[in-house]
Amino acid sequence: MIANADIKIEKTTHSRVNEYDVNDVPFGKCFSDHMFIAEYANGKWEKSYITPYKDVPMSFAMSALHYGQAIFEGMKAYKNAEGEVSIFRPLENFKRLNKSAIRMAMPEVPEEIFMGGLLELLKLDAAWVPTSESGSLYIRPFLIATDEAIGVKASDTYKFIIITCPAGKYYSEPIKVLIETNYIRAVQGGVGFVKAAGNYGRSLYPTKLAQQKGYQQVIWTDGATHSFLEESGTMNLIFVIGNTVVTPALSDTILAGITRDSVLALAREWGMGVEERKISITEILEAHAAGTLKEAFGVGTAATIAQIIGIGYKEDYYPLPAVEERKFSNKVDETLRAIRKGKAADTLGWMFKVK
Ligand code: COI
Repeated sequence: MIANADIKIEKTTHSRVNEYDVNDVPFGKCFSDHMFIAEYANGKWEKSYITPYKDVPMSFAMSALHYGQAIFEGMKAYKNAEGEVSIFRPLENFKRLNKSAIRMAMPEVPEEIFMGGLLELLKLDAAWVPTSESGSLYIRPFLIATDEAIGVKASDTYKFIIITCPAGKYYSEPIKVLIETNYIRAVQGGVGFVKAAGNYGRSLYPTKLAQQKGYQQVIWTDGATHSFLEESGTMNLIFVIGNTVVTPALSDTILAGITRDSVLALAREWGMGVEERKISITEILEAHAAGTLKEAFGVGTAATIAQIIGIGYKEDYYPLPAVEERKFSNKVDETLRAIRKGKAADTLGWMFKVK
């Protein structure tokens, strides 16, 4: 771990935490008192510091803004009944950030900077971690190219930044999703398996079209044939068909979600069949017709479990079983919440204490 002395800390003189009800704020719009910044230049990570959260001067020529050399992570911290703060599986996010960095020709962030900055930041902003049942502190680490240069090349300078915001539910209601067979999120050989900023920007237009048709999200299909399901919106996609948990296998078009991995680990622990493989649209429609499609849900850090109540395909709509009847996803949701809030034993060692 980085020693405290390595991070210069400037504390706020006026905490804003009492200006909000941290248990009741819209997702991603109210930011806690401090932020962590590490700067990369001259081929090395040169300095790390924490400052009060604020706007900072930036050049409009900054390369991240023009060519999308920008990556991010999403993670969450929780508070237990004793007021102790823990982060859910942060080392997995650390590893994934660096996978993204390699793919986007960016420098890897050392563990002592990622974890050291994160822990110092959360110690300072512990009062911002919600205590409510579904509340958490959403943590947004991101790495951006900061060269003031318009030429297309990997930047020589970067900033790694962590900001945080209290968060409740990402989706207030179960969602309806439309299978997208025209636009694509990711292609083989592309960047779909990493958290590159551009993956999200390019999703907005197809999502807007789906929303105009009454859906909240799309289900992305493979770019070559549009016949296999990949992800839903910003989430991994999981089905229960019969008694088996089925999800698209990881590939270079699918993000290795940490919530996805956690849900599959619980399913395996509970002795359920788990299949990570290709899932065709035809298979899902046939399972729907046969009555064996029991559950469908998206999983991600922000949303945790987002129940899918119906799937649209072309002009048809396929309603799914009532959310209350969904044994597996409801149990997973409750179990994850209990582990995160310290109400159930953390047998898989997922919670990382901030102390
Ligand atoms: C997350 O679940 O953390 C995501 O990356 C989704 C996000 C873009 C809000």
